[in-house]
Amino acid sequence: MTAEQLPATSREVRLAAYPEGEVTLDHFALAESPLEEPGEGQVVVRNDWMTLGSVARDQMNPDTKLPIPVFQPDVAMWGRTIGTVVRSNSPQLAVGDLVEHFAGWRDYAVGSAQEFFRRERSLLPGPEYFLSQGPTAWHGMVGTAEVREGDVVFVSGATNGVGALAGQIAKARGAKRVIGSTGSPEKIDFLVKELGFDAAFDYHDGPVAEQLAELAPDGVDVVFDNVGGEQFEAAVQVASLGARFALCGALAGQHGSGDGGSPRLALMSAITKGLTLRGFATLHTPDQIEDWNSQFSVWLREGRIVFPHTVVEGGVPQLPEAFVSLLGRKYSGTVLVRMS
Ligand SMILES: NC(=O)c1ccc[n+]([C@@H]2O[C@H](COP(=O)([O-])OP(=O)(O)OC[C@H]3O[C@@H](n4cnc5c(N)ncnc54)[C@H](OP(=O)(O)O)[C@@H]3O)[C@@H](O)[C@H]2O)c1
Repeated sequence: MTAEQLPATSREVRLAAYPEGEVTLDHFALAESPLEEPGEGQVVVRNDWMTLGSVARDQMNPDTKLPIPVFQPDVAMWGRTIGTVVRSNSPQLAVGDLVEHFAGWRDYAVGSAQEFFRRERSLLPGPEYFLSQGPTAWHGMVGTAEVREGDVVFVSGATNGVGALAGQIAKARGAKRVIGSTGSPEKIDFLVKELGFDAAFDYHDGPVAEQLAELAPDGVDVVFDNVGGEQFEAAVQVASLGARFALCGALAGQHGSGDGGSPRLALMSAITKGLTLRGFATLHTPDQIEDWNSQFSVWLREGRIVFPHTVVEGGVPQLPEAFVSLLGRKYSGTVLVRMS
């Protein structure tokens, strides 16, 4: 294989300043770093796709409670990415290998081969499929809420990368009825017509508890909560006896404003209904990733699931704007930026 010509520099996005409140383009800086040949045991990877999520907003907050490092000012940001090895100085990886890693927000990543995890290209329809939020959706819906046949399920924040898969997983595991909440009529259509949700509502259209109770008159057995705030409170109100909650995210409190991350818990309801409220953090262990990718591959082939995603073109220079748009709720599904 002829070695790919590498540029002298690699573009990257750095954090310019920690935002207080709304994130704007001023919080990012586009920069270039010299692209070095790999040292002993190292590889150079051309980033092909990266995924963006609200979690990066938490990483822009030096006081975040998340168990992952925050971004540092004037240093390249990082995030889940997939790319191709273009130079290798390690027996562990060969030129042409597809690898998943965390050195996103840049054109090329250089580092020890151990920081890059090889993926079998033929397993999924395209490299970007390896960036699905399936490990989290599966961990929450199956491992945490223990969804089972006949369940009525509520997924809050159902059109985002995690929620859109969580609802489909529930259906594939035999749930009787899956209901999603989202933020616009277009996204309701997307959930019902394209993803097979049984019903969906717009949380702007009235009290969430009323809308949810109307769609689930006998209560909900499983709640997969991405949002917190009023949506969590409503789910407790509408929950049936013994309902299981998988607490995944707190979008209503994550974007730098609002107290949605600290909903009130109607304690007597939780007690008398015997609710199980379980938070979970998916660490993306090799087992979690491999288990999900194998399951994903089978369900895709059988036509039992789709990969909801939005593709943003434009590579590194486009990343800040794509991230601001994500926070502005413009996208559906996993947000993927084509990097090369
Ligand atoms: N527990 C774990 O291990 C784990 C792992 C990964 C991610 N997460 C969490 O899972 C959640 C989903 O992550 P993601 O990356 O799939 O989502 P994402 O792409 O960041 O979600 C963006 C979407 O969330 C909705 N949203 C934003 N702010 C909202 C608000 N205040 N109230 C209600 N909905 C809001 C918007 O859709 P609408 O138009 O529908 O409002 C928006 O388009 C996040 O909370 C993330 O931190 C948890």
